[in-house]
Amino acid sequence: MSDMSMTSFDNARPANAQDLAGQPNMKAIDNARDPIGIILEIAGSGSQIALDVQRLAECAADADPSVALAGQVGSQIKVRVGSGWLLASVRNQKQDSKTPGGIRAAIDFLGEGDEERLTGRIHGFRRGVTSYPTPGSLVYPATSEDLRQIYASDGRSAIQIGKVYPTKDIRASLYIDAMLGKHFALLGSTGTGKSTSAALILHRICQHAPEGHILMIDPHGEYGAAFRDSGVVLDVSNLQMPYWLMNFEEHCETLLTSSGADREMDADILAKCLLQARMKNRLAEQMGKITVDAPIPYLLSDLSAILQNEMGKLDKAGSTAPYVRIKSKVDELKADPRYQFMFSGMLVGDTMGEFLAKIFRLPAYGRPISIIDVSGVPSEITSTVVAVLSRLVFDFAIWSREEKTRPILLVCEEAHRYVPNEKNADGSSVGRILSRIAKEGRKYGISLGLITQRPSDLAEGVLSQCGTIIAMRLNNERDQAFVKAAMPEGARGFLDSIPALRNRECIICGEGVSIPIRATFDDLEEFKRPASEDPSFSHLWSMSGGEEEMVLRTVQRWRAQGR
Ligand SMILES: Nc1ncnc2c1ncn2[C@@H]1O[C@H](COP(=O)(O)OP(=O)(O)OP(=O)(O)O)[C@@H](O)[C@H]1O
Ligand SMILES: [Mg+2]
Repeated sequence: MSDMSMTSFDNARPANAQDLAGQPNMKAIDNARDPIGIILEIAGSGSQIALDVQRLAECAADADPSVALAGQVGSQIKVRVGSGWLLASVRNQKQDSKTPGGIRAAIDFLGEGDEERLTGRIHGFRRGVTSYPTPGSLVYPATSEDLRQIYASDGRSAIQIGKVYPTKDIRASLYIDAMLGKHFALLGSTGTGKSTSAALILHRICQHAPEGHILMIDPHGEYGAAFRDSGVVLDVSNLQMPYWLMNFEEHCETLLTSSGADREMDADILAKCLLQARMKNRLAEQMGKITVDAPIPYLLSDLSAILQNEMGKLDKAGSTAPYVRIKSKVDELKADPRYQFMFSGMLVGDTMGEFLAKIFRLPAYGRPISIIDVSGVPSEITSTVVAVLSRLVFDFAIWSREEKTRPILLVCEEAHRYVPNEKNADGSSVGRILSRIAKEGRKYGISLGLITQRPSDLAEGVLSQCGTIIAMRLNNERDQAFVKAAMPEGARGFLDSIPALRNRECIICGEGVSIPIRATFDDLEEFKRPASEDPSFSHLWSMSGGEEEMVLRTVQRWRAQGR
């Protein structure tokens, strides 16, 4: 430390008799009231402080875990300004070249509060800074009690999800309205606990809002087990999603097999014939003019018949190939048992109202979440199914605008599969609709929750539309860089700890929290966890019995293509 700063520390140290009482040979220090450094420089891009190494060593032995971490990267410090406190987080540390053994650190200001007269704690904390300290101002460790005041809910509806690091008992909460109002993203490398954390957050939201409306796309069939009691699980056996809900674009994705110039021709023919098929419905007659996108039931047999009929009208020069291609695809889907959840002959009735009520939980009957398990959906069509569901959320929100608004939360696991970046994009409709929801959904009361292990594979701009980012450990540097870019300035101090987080730990920043926090998720009861347990090789490989029957049953299911 420089001479100047040493003097100022010594002057600031309250060496009153009380501190020393009863400890004759020890210099008693109240670490919380003793400065650990001074402000060197205040700048827009980041302010610098000098830390006193000896004081840091004294603090490290403190019983209060927040004081013990004082000055470390990611820890919080406070600076006195007038009669109040400024709170800041430490972004980095480096050796001070000018003072041997001295440490310099960059800090980011998080907010300010008043001083509680008797205790010296921060109270009445608010985000943002109105007046900055001057160089030379003293820096103190933030205590657990300070953090308790800072993280105390400000009265807005909140759910508690875990505890604030490094404290022993301060609860970490998320403000529901702020978090859902501007979308959220849950990111983390594989195995860090994303799915379990997502289940925990959703469970807490469901408890808080038993009449909510949450739709979760579950590509691995993990979440059914977790929401048996508080949700409705829909998979290929009971989803019953009528094919005629698809718009024209989605029809093209499922029914057209050609590419290039042929595809355009096929699409024109499909548009014409599909419209005719829809027009045959009684509903269409009542409405007069309809579009090919209108979700009006039609019969697959009508579509086939119309295709056949149109083919008959061709003159000699016309090619029948497009008609044959589409017609044989329709027949194929009708006959394939794997597609029965969508293309069954049972799905011709007008069940649109019931279907929407079922998937959007209208009414919720105390089960506010519907889990759509798409793991049994044939992979060629999964992305179209997700597109249809997401578009239904969006269109429903648009067409129900004149009603009392019922916001809907759409949660998408493995989001990088459905909203991929340009490099991985295949131009499918699901990417477009989810990007659109990310951009415009908020205006229509749709909240998007994206869960992914590959944030760098997400479409550009989607992550920055997420107002709240919950980042668990990310091992990949590219992913880290992406998350950094999407996080607000004040969270930079925490960012560097992302690769060092333990499982179940996360950094949360943005709208859902008052200031960025590092938190550890609560232990989630076993029956509420998604079925994503890692298999125990050592246990399972020490058991035997029933293998032959198991293989036979598997082969049978495989052949029947049912589950
Ligand atoms: N809050 C928690 N309470 C109890 N167990 C947890 C918690 N968080 C994670 N786990 C355990 O950690 C393991 C991995 O968690 P999880 O499956 O949620 O990770 P993931 O990030 O979703 O992985 P993947 O990327 O492979 O889907 C699981 O066995 C889970 O039981
Ligand atoms: Mg998972």
